[in-house]
Amino acid sequence: MVEIKALGDHVGNEVTVHGWVEATRGHGKVAFTVVRDGTGVVQGVLVKSAVDEAVWECQQSLTQESLAALTGTVKADDRAPGGYELSLTGVEALAPAEEYPIQPKEHGVDFLLDHRHLWLRSSLQRAGLRVRAEVEQSIHDFLYTNDFVRVDTPILTGAIGEHAGTLFETDYFGDSAYMAQTGQLYVEAACPAFRRVYCFGPTFRAEKSKTRRHLTEFWMVEPEVAFADSNQNMELQEQLVSYIVERALERCSEELKVLERDTSKLENVKPSFPRMSYTEAIAFLQAKGSEIEWGKDLGAADEAVLMEDRDLPLFVHDYPKTAKAFYMKENPDDPRTVLCDDLLAPEGYGEIIGGSQREDDHDRLRARIHEESLPEEAYAWYLDLRKYGTFPHSGFGLGIERTVAWITGRHHIREMIPFPRLMNRLYP
Ligand code: 4AD
Ligand code: MG
Repeated sequence: MVEIKALGDHVGNEVTVHGWVEATRGHGKVAFTVVRDGTGVVQGVLVKSAVDEAVWECQQSLTQESLAALTGTVKADDRAPGGYELSLTGVEALAPAEEYPIQPKEHGVDFLLDHRHLWLRSSLQRAGLRVRAEVEQSIHDFLYTNDFVRVDTPILTGAIGEHAGTLFETDYFGDSAYMAQTGQLYVEAACPAFRRVYCFGPTFRAEKSKTRRHLTEFWMVEPEVAFADSNQNMELQEQLVSYIVERALERCSEELKVLERDTSKLENVKPSFPRMSYTEAIAFLQAKGSEIEWGKDLGAADEAVLMEDRDLPLFVHDYPKTAKAFYMKENPDDPRTVLCDDLLAPEGYGEIIGGSQREDDHDRLRARIHEESLPEEAYAWYLDLRKYGTFPHSGFGLGIERTVAWITGRHHIREMIPFPRLMNRLYP
């Protein structure tokens, strides 16, 4: 058996390929069979007069998504998908498929999501998920090259990481455990061990919003750096994001073509990205007619106005304390605000990163925990980090699905994860 991606090494030879049937056509003298084996797609051409009746009959009986063995001579053909074609001498049905639910026609999204286990095989889904895999690999490569140590953080946690409002709570031998909303608190603990660290994994939020940007289970990379301030934190973010985009353009050009992505919009994504303070953003929005008041968090509509006519992502930094999480460091220049940033992607994709410098003063952090009515006992270990050689540090979380949606130009992030978890969806 030869993999389709290696057909170029076998031009002129007879080979056998095993693959799932994407399409068949032709009933007269010549029939075509397109198969996919996970490494590529190839078309087999069968001439009725050149083979036994049984081979022809077998080809004619192939149904969509049957597993078939195609044997034939490899021919180079520029017009063929993948650049090669098979002149068939043999066709074998290895595992026939029942009538396949996903037909080459328009299906509703709910139908497709109900059949997600099969929908994964289709070309747009394959392209999107391959870009996702490349994005993930590029993140590991970038961080590894820049001396980060990967630290795996727990999924079952005893303390709230972000917001009390979006917790998944589960019984833990009679106590409560929460599904991690973030690994941040734990990577902070690993900083004094390794200086530059990151975690990468699934995070969970009981988001009651059914928007194109929200999943209840999504993947996040969270770098954390000792001695970095908020400014250096934003520099790291723009370097990472630029690297991810560059790698996708370089290694996923075929997939981006399948997705019909206008890549000219991505080519300029290089450091440095423009920055706007939250206070400037509010003034800008008010000048545009918005009724937003200082102190309120920015909504998707506000973000859209800020991003009009922009090709580069935009940092909005130093939000009001009241709009952000308890662990962010107070801004010494304006104590109403904290040293944090959101990175907004262009083209309507919204916030892809949330980051901040962390409060490193024990008493202030403890006061913030009380102000937010969080249970101090659950954060005793986190406060300890401020008791034993406290240090300035910053970090951020980049959402994988939102980033991949932006890079691929797909509308909804539910297609950017193999098996999306949404408010109304736990299957397949
Ligand atoms: O801004 P967030 O909530 O930040 C944190 O969790 C910090 N602890 C990160 C850190 O500083 N280490 O989330 C970070 C990113 C968002 O910018 C967004 O890309 C993504 O995670 N995100 C979601 N993606 C999909 N569905 C959701 N429900 C998401 N919530 C956040
Ligand atoms: Mg955020």
